[in-house]
Amino acid sequence: MSISDPNRVPADGPAAGQSGRSDKRQFRVQRLLPDDYRLKGIAADLLRGLTKKLPELYPKWCYDPTGSEIYEKITSQPEYYLTDCEWRILNSYSSEISDVANASTLIELGSGVSKKTVRLLEMIHQRGTLNTFIPFDVDETALVRASKKLLLEHPTLDIRLLVADFERHISSLPRSNSRTTIALLGSTIGNFYPTARLAILRSIASWMQEDDVLLIGADLIKAERRMVNAYSDSAGANESFAKHALHVINSEIGANFDTTSFTYEVAWNPIEHWVEMFLVSQQSQSVVIPTLDLHLEWPAGSRIRTEISTKFTNEFLNAELSAAGFTVTNRWFDGGSDFVLLAACLDSTMTADSGR
Ligand SMILES: C[S@@+](CC[C@H](N)C(=O)[O-])C[C@H]1O[C@@H](n2cnc3c(N)ncnc32)[C@H](O)[C@@H]1O
Repeated sequence: MSISDPNRVPADGPAAGQSGRSDKRQFRVQRLLPDDYRLKGIAADLLRGLTKKLPELYPKWCYDPTGSEIYEKITSQPEYYLTDCEWRILNSYSSEISDVANASTLIELGSGVSKKTVRLLEMIHQRGTLNTFIPFDVDETALVRASKKLLLEHPTLDIRLLVADFERHISSLPRSNSRTTIALLGSTIGNFYPTARLAILRSIASWMQEDDVLLIGADLIKAERRMVNAYSDSAGANESFAKHALHVINSEIGANFDTTSFTYEVAWNPIEHWVEMFLVSQQSQSVVIPTLDLHLEWPAGSRIRTEISTKFTNEFLNAELSAAGFTVTNRWFDGGSDFVLLAACLDSTMTADSGR
């Protein structure tokens, strides 16, 4: 691929006129999302979500440049323990984790602007076998921002950004015959409703080969107040993220939500085992979405669920991964057993059965 290839982005400036040295420090961007992906996807999810008895939105659409920045702020709030816990696990067990996750290709689903990627890459890269890193996310700006930094730290690594949706595009991941580790960190899997969660895990299993490893970070059930506080930080970062969902719908689909009249609420749902985030309308409002021919009346006090964050037990994670075709091989916990990092491989009995 030449230096003028539009899919190559230099690590430290525009591509034109770069020296041979800079030429090496570039990463490739592959975009699997069609131009109308957001418009069509948000519209379909609005029709699906807003017409439910308890209307719901899907946080995937919040991850645009603004949303990813807000998410980054969330991760540095003192109440949001998840990032610190996972970071501690990666540091405390770096040698064991890199033994297990040692591979020539690392794919990180929902990579975003993750600072943890740096640690994970360092750990596996030190083993000397890693040559390709594929950060995969719906938000290209977050990928580019993170990868520019990574490339400066790992100039020989082949970094291939994949702008894609892991609910749709796992099967399009590039496949080599060498060992691959797929990472899904930050308890991102917990943001999906159970059917979607299982579908994502199954599509990963279908893509994986016998020697590959799945590394998955998941938040565990703990004291209710701690779980709820993580999503109701005093600086209001989580609230901004939830409200950003309405801004996205207004600006991208032409809805007329009065974003100022919503308050933010967080609750633990003990039946579903998830923390749920709501926006509650403080006054009645008529919401019109002309492009969808949708006219909704929102009485004062009506709620929209903007996000869930499922909290797991070890047994439940085992069962879910097993249902998706995996066997859990390793578990690492932070000191307080708040969070778990799991390694899983394909269940050999299922592999044999399905002739994979
Ligand atoms: C909770 S954040 C986690 C970010 C990072 N991995 C971490 O651990 O801090 C979820 C990330 O997944 C991405 N994401 C969410 N749904 C996605 C989807 N369906 N396909 C691809 N990326 C997705 C978001 O853009 C965001 O960067």
